Amino acid sequence: MTPAQAIVRVLALAAALMAAGLAGAQPPEALKLTAERVESTDECRRCHFRRPDELKQLVTLDGFCVEEEAGIWDTQDKHRQAFLLLITERNRPLTEQILGFPLADVLTLPSGPAEPRAVSYRSDADPQKLADMQACLACHAPVAEPIARGSAQRTLASGVSCQACHGPGRLYMTPHQDSTAVWRIVKAEAKETLFGLRDVRHPVKRAMLCASCHIGSFSDEWKPDEKSPPRFVRHEWYAKGHPPLPSFEMAAFTSQMPLHWRHLSQKLSGGQKFAWYDAAPEGKDLEAQVARFIETLPRSVKIERSAFASSWLDANAAGLSPTPAADLPRTREVLVSAVGVLGAYASLLADVPAEMRTDFALYDCGACHHELRSRLPSESRVRRRLPPGRPPPAFWPLALARPAAEQSDGGAALEAALVELDAALGARPFGQQAQVKTAAEKLRVVSLTVAGELSKRPVDERAAAALLASLADPRHDEDRDFHAARQRAWAIRAVLYDLAAVPLRGDGSPPASRALSPAVGSVLGLSPQEAIPSSDPQVRLRIEGLFGDDPWQGPLRLRLPAGQQESVVGQLPHFLEAISAYESAWFRERLRPIQEAFPRK
Ligand code: HEC
Ligand code: HEC
Ligand code: HEC
Ligand code: HEC
Ligand code: HEC
Repeated sequence: MTPAQAIVRVLALAAALMAAGLAGAQPPEALKLTAERVESTDECRRCHFRRPDELKQLVTLDGFCVEEEAGIWDTQDKHRQAFLLLITERNRPLTEQILGFPLADVLTLPSGPAEPRAVSYRSDADPQKLADMQACLACHAPVAEPIARGSAQRTLASGVSCQACHGPGRLYMTPHQDSTAVWRIVKAEAKETLFGLRDVRHPVKRAMLCASCHIGSFSDEWKPDEKSPPRFVRHEWYAKGHPPLPSFEMAAFTSQMPLHWRHLSQKLSGGQKFAWYDAAPEGKDLEAQVARFIETLPRSVKIERSAFASSWLDANAAGLSPTPAADLPRTREVLVSAVGVLGAYASLLADVPAEMRTDFALYDCGACHHELRSRLPSESRVRRRLPPGRPPPAFWPLALARPAAEQSDGGAALEAALVELDAALGARPFGQQAQVKTAAEKLRVVSLTVAGELSKRPVDERAAAALLASLADPRHDEDRDFHAARQRAWAIRAVLYDLAAVPLRGDGSPPASRALSPAVGSVLGLSPQEAIPSSDPQVRLRIEGLFGDDPWQGPLRLRLPAGQQESVVGQLPHFLEAISAYESAWFRERLRPIQEAFPRK
């Protein structure tokens, strides 16, 4: 197949993808975070916080959810603080330095040190300053919610709240607590369009959600209305001190968020199934249950029988991997989001308004900010297809997208789309606008199509071994760039955790233990003669230590300043130091045992 044929094939596939709402289709109106649709986060806390007795009366839970989602978010998740951190004593000078004016000009700030219950925009603020503040909060506090149920007073203090990810609560609040659990068989698509509950389980959709803030997005999808600002950190804000957004790898970021949910294999552990998993529960008549559920809905909700499936699996995993509970969870996340995240970056270039095309933050930071080396042009830098001196697209998204696309039939099409984008951007500094837009659009569609195709595949140990072989073999200078190497290291660790059956966080069940495969044993320097069980703590420690002696941080700083104790600003000097101290020879050395144990086929 020539690259041109490959693109044609992938574009044909893309039509199906658009129908599935992934590439370029209009996002459902119900998902928009408009003020009148948002509930107070206290409402979510009422149930999603473990209070056993009260809860049991309210709902029938059978181990489907952890019931502790709000507790985890409140105490461990940095998203909880995404707004508060901007106004704390420690960060406030930095925030004001980036913005160029005092926060009190635009916000109604509390006077005391206590956590504010209500912070909002000032109604008398200067419009330009207000617009700048809103541009920050598109990512740091995308919605002002009522301070309590039914209150007219609003607050931004919840930061990246439950509803910022899951969608505005007004429409799903009542139906989703349904005690017969028929809600579980409402198709994921109908939950989005009719009830405003975002499908965060679909790995491509999840990647686009995270990327909308962690990479940026100009898409209308995330804007409450057309006048809302995009999610984008401008270069001038970086130059004034905004911490550089790190590269994004979904398995690493979700696990460090940390998880407040369980993977399907954990939900089904112990041989027990939750209601409606693959069929109607015993003694329940599907049609009668659906009819009863529909009766409980307000008349304004126009729901058809076709919005219901006959099982949770059909409702949530139709068209995805045929073996969702058996798939290796982190490997699947790495594989699918690798190409999805490239799609998100391509979207940024495709959707950027003309007046912002020359914002340096759209391009590869390292291409301009590398230290000038003794020899020019430098041989230790990434080789590009653009003429030297033209700002190239970000390099790190390719570090995982290429090895992942290799596992699909879309590798050639992806390469062809990349060549086209480079040509468009290389035509002159910042490229020819129309050509760049077309090429970026194509790259977006090809990426999302390949990601969609990968999400349909079962991910077993063979698939994991094949991916590992590609990840350990840098063929396009991925080892020459700190951020690309970091992406690879995160991904390699995630796959090894899966292959060694290291339990996911938040799993209450005892770890399933089994002997390590000889290949994994040899990567970890454990002798194949000793039957080391995967539950042995040294297995996790050795995987953590693969890329440095400090099992957590090491030269690639694989531990994010996540959680509520770590500080992004406080860690920044160490992060920047690591970037300049990075040595590609060291990284290659680390990859060697993996290459030997998992050779490319
Ligand atoms: C009165 C109790 C109650 C309130 C209030 C509540 N929930 Fe829930 N939530 C539940 C129950 C019960 C489930 C379903 C659990 C199950 O199926 O076992 C659930 C499930 C969910 C799910 C998974 C849904 C799915 O389709 O799989 C999400 C996401 C969620 N809730 C988010 C929220 C958010 C966000 C809020 C606040 C805006 C909220 N909930 C408020 C009780 C509640
Ligand atoms: C595209 C989304 C986005 C926009 C827009 C944005 N930020 Fe951020 N901001 C982030 C992310 C993501 C981080 C965390 C960086 C990291 O992961 O290391 C962050 C971190 C910060 C921090 C450090 C917080 C800490 O934990 O110590 C400050 C301060 C900050 N941003 C201020 C601002 C200001 C001021 C603006 C507007 C001028 C702004 N941000 C706009 C996404 C954004
Ligand atoms: C940064 C985005 C984000 C935020 C903020 C967030 N969630 Fe989630 N939530 C997710 C993702 C992603 C999943 C994963 C679903 C999956 O893969 O099963 C999830 C899953 C869930 C589930 C389903 C759990 C399960 O085991 O199936 C519930 C319930 C839930 N979240 C409630 C909440 C509540 C309540 C809050 C606020 C206190 C919240 N979430 C905040 C992203 C988020
Ligand atoms: C609405 C915007 C938004 C969305 C959507 C979002 N994040 Fe974030 N996230 C942020 C901001 C802002 C911060 C930084 C908070 C701070 O430090 O002030 C952050 C911080 C984090 C951190 C802490 C580590 C670090 O380096 O900053 C992790 C991990 C993280 N996000 C993971 C995720 C994942 C996984 C998803 C998708 C399920 C996601 N985020 C979706 C805005 C968002
Ligand atoms: C096209 C080249 C180019 C690209 C790409 C670029 N920058 Fe810059 N950057 C510059 C220039 C030029 C300056 C101004 C230098 C000065 O004022 O001394 C600058 C200044 C900065 C500064 C302030 C440096 C200082 O010493 O005060 C930071 C921080 C920064 N950029 C971060 C970034 C980040 C993060 C990215 C990627 C998201 C990026 N830049 C992409 C050219 C670029």
